[in-house]
Amino acid sequence: MSPHITNVQTAPIVGQKPGTSGLRKKTPVFMGRHYLENFVQSIFDVVGAKGRTFILGGDGRYFNDRAAQVILRMAAANGAARVIVGQGAILSTPAASHLIRLNQTDGGIIMSASHNPGGPNEDFGVKFNMPNGGPAPEGVTEAMFQRTTTITEYKVLEAQDVDLGRIGRHDLGGMIVDVVNPVTDYAALMEALFDFPAIRAMFAGGFRMWMDSMCAVTGPYATEILENRLGAEKGTCVNAIPLPDFGGMHPDPNPTWAKALMDEMFSDAAPDFGAASDGDGDRNMVVGQGIYVSPSDSLAVLAANAHLAPGYKAGLKGVARSMPTSAAADRVADALGIGKYETPTGWKFFGNLLDAGKATICGEESFGTGSDHVREKDGLWAVLLWLNILAVRKQSVATILQEHWAKYGRNYYSRHDFEAIATDKADAMFAALRGSLAGLPGKAVDGMTVQAADDFAYADPVDGSVSIKQGVRVLFQDGSRIVYRLSGTGTEGATLRVYLERYAPGPDGLEHDAQDALAPVIRAAHALAGIAAYTGRTTPDVVT
Ligand code: G1P
Ligand code: ZN
Repeated sequence: MSPHITNVQTAPIVGQKPGTSGLRKKTPVFMGRHYLENFVQSIFDVVGAKGRTFILGGDGRYFNDRAAQVILRMAAANGAARVIVGQGAILSTPAASHLIRLNQTDGGIIMSASHNPGGPNEDFGVKFNMPNGGPAPEGVTEAMFQRTTTITEYKVLEAQDVDLGRIGRHDLGGMIVDVVNPVTDYAALMEALFDFPAIRAMFAGGFRMWMDSMCAVTGPYATEILENRLGAEKGTCVNAIPLPDFGGMHPDPNPTWAKALMDEMFSDAAPDFGAASDGDGDRNMVVGQGIYVSPSDSLAVLAANAHLAPGYKAGLKGVARSMPTSAAADRVADALGIGKYETPTGWKFFGNLLDAGKATICGEESFGTGSDHVREKDGLWAVLLWLNILAVRKQSVATILQEHWAKYGRNYYSRHDFEAIATDKADAMFAALRGSLAGLPGKAVDGMTVQAADDFAYADPVDGSVSIKQGVRVLFQDGSRIVYRLSGTGTEGATLRVYLERYAPGPDGLEHDAQDALAPVIRAAHALAGIAAYTGRTTPDVVT
């Protein structure tokens, strides 16, 4: 049978609204009749496929391999010239972003639901990244969504599967399919940014590390870079084989879900350094011997020390953080005399700043850090920058953090998540909270006085676009801060995120636990929003 194109009659499938992190649904929904096909056709209809070159890969979760074959057949039927695919349909999100840029392609399709569990009854996702390597902006995802509501047919090539296990060039009905090693180009980029000889010498000197890939996509990347190229001892990389169900793990690198790593790092046998990454490899958590590094502190330490890595030795253009992320990075930016930016939650807001050369390093409190080397956050990049800093400074993580706090002061920080709240209850709480904002300044709560309260709005300094209602902020006279947001990525009910921050200048209280230091702020957060009254919840489900 020679391959031929079929125009399959379909009908809109309602309710498939992609966010900027793409379309995420339960796997059986994606596997349902015409579902994946409708969305992929809508992507091609919006961005155009004829004569184009795309990158394709995913985090290896259940259905990744089958979805890749469907997407390839549809790309061919829609007239694409070439698709570059990671071997086995594997690509981490940052590696896909890099390949899009490196090959100057017309964008890429990434199959992932990030840190959400994978498996036949868990989550699957598809997202489109633009030629700059970053997630499609809202206008584009909105157009894709609109297209899914009017679609009547999709094009697919009737053909055999492409052998995605074999590296090299394949033909699919006249479209070139280049199967590439998913790690090679990414590892070369890391080698160009970081002082590999110094890190190698540190490992040779007995430095020990635990890298937990949580049975997700960074396994092959971490093994190649840390063990093969940097000489870390065998076994440094654990859970390093990507599995369709992530071995039953919830591949979200935080103290709750990466508990085995936390236990190890706080045990007597703790290695010098520990790290974990998420499903698609864009998130990271770093832990020192007996000390947890909050993502907000990690961003600040990376910004303060980035010049120690060859790729950043000329200094940073600026530092950007999401609004709920602590102000620790701002203090570093001020000390360095460089720009600082506060954006709404979500990586897409950093893209413009990076493209415009306003910022070099960006980060979010949600375990995301990255730089202008790609247009996504990058878990292994953060781990390698930490290793580079440790190798040059020859100090422990704990010492580096303590010296940082002594110099800049410490922003105690924590996020409390209340999951699967009934949506109407969460909405009622926010409506009341928003309604109370004007009356808050001057109000005393738990020994603190409210200085200002608002609903965060952001005017993009590059394209002038304005985003409103990005989170309620309450600022106190002593510099403490509470932020309330509803998650935009949850799949069940509403998730309330409460972000808590308190600033302690100078070397005061280095030994304090963040939850203890934040106790009054936590009480105030509950009192001001009436969390228990509206949601019935008194304790958070996840604390990071
Ligand atoms: C969460 C994080 C946010 C991150 C996003 C995608 O979004 O809080 O920082 O950019 O995942 O990884 P949320 O569920 O809070 O909307
Ligand atoms: Zn992710």
